[in-house]
Amino acid sequence: MTPTVDPERWTEVDEFISGSLGLGDEVLEAAVRAGIEAGMPEIQVSPPQARMLEILARAVGARRVLEFGTLAAYSTIWLARALPEGGRVVTLEANPGYAEVARDNLERAGLADVVDLRVGPALEVLPKLEAEGAGPFDLVFIDADKVHTPDYFAWSLDHVRPGALIVADNVVRGGTLAEPDSGDATIEAQRHLHTTIAADPRVTATTIQTVGSKGHDGFTLAIVNDASG
Ligand code: SAH
Ligand code: DHB
Ligand code: MG
Repeated sequence: MTPTVDPERWTEVDEFISGSLGLGDEVLEAAVRAGIEAGMPEIQVSPPQARMLEILARAVGARRVLEFGTLAAYSTIWLARALPEGGRVVTLEANPGYAEVARDNLERAGLADVVDLRVGPALEVLPKLEAEGAGPFDLVFIDADKVHTPDYFAWSLDHVRPGALIVADNVVRGGTLAEPDSGDATIEAQRHLHTTIAADPRVTATTIQTVGSKGHDGFTLAIVNDASG
């Protein structure tokens, strides 16, 4: 076996996984296409990653999901489909144009009633969710502006039930997570996330590196411990 550090091969493998496991359908493809046609960046989770989110949601029996960063609602559709009858996804998107595309995509997916899409910078929307008594959430997917990942993580921790999962995307960032003193605020934020998680007895966490069609990156996975623990 030839070992590979070969992004093209990573993409071929993702294509094999998606093709052989049948990940995706017309509705999801239309959602991606609508984003591309609207000039949005193609930065949604890959199909294998999306299936992982579905599996995690089902594994914790999620009924209430919070997502930071909707884009065209690709990951949102996967999460919403993973929920039982009566389940809800609250998803936060800062860009009104993106939110419009996401709304159309959710409508086409038949999920307009399952997903509560809030437009505005997450840090401005969170106090409103707080005032409404939103949560407690069973699963949180953090995938918005990367400098604020630690802030979103901190807020989420105060609004989840024991046994909930908090998942953050894009924490490894091409391996830059390993760089101390990078002077790059997005990298420092991911390193800071690890420092704060380590010091917080409320969660048990790890970070798993990934390669694939989205290059070298990774997810932080945190499970919320029982308060009595
Ligand atoms: N979760 C999506 C991808 C999200 S991409 C998927 O996998 O399909 C990141 C998104 O976060 C972008 O749509 C961007 O507009 C949004 N975003 C950036 N800053 C934000 C903020 N402060 N609050 C909420 N959303 C933000
Ligand atoms: C970017 C954002 C993402 O959520 C992602 O998964 C990949 C890239 C970005 O902003 O470039
Ligand atoms: Mg992401």
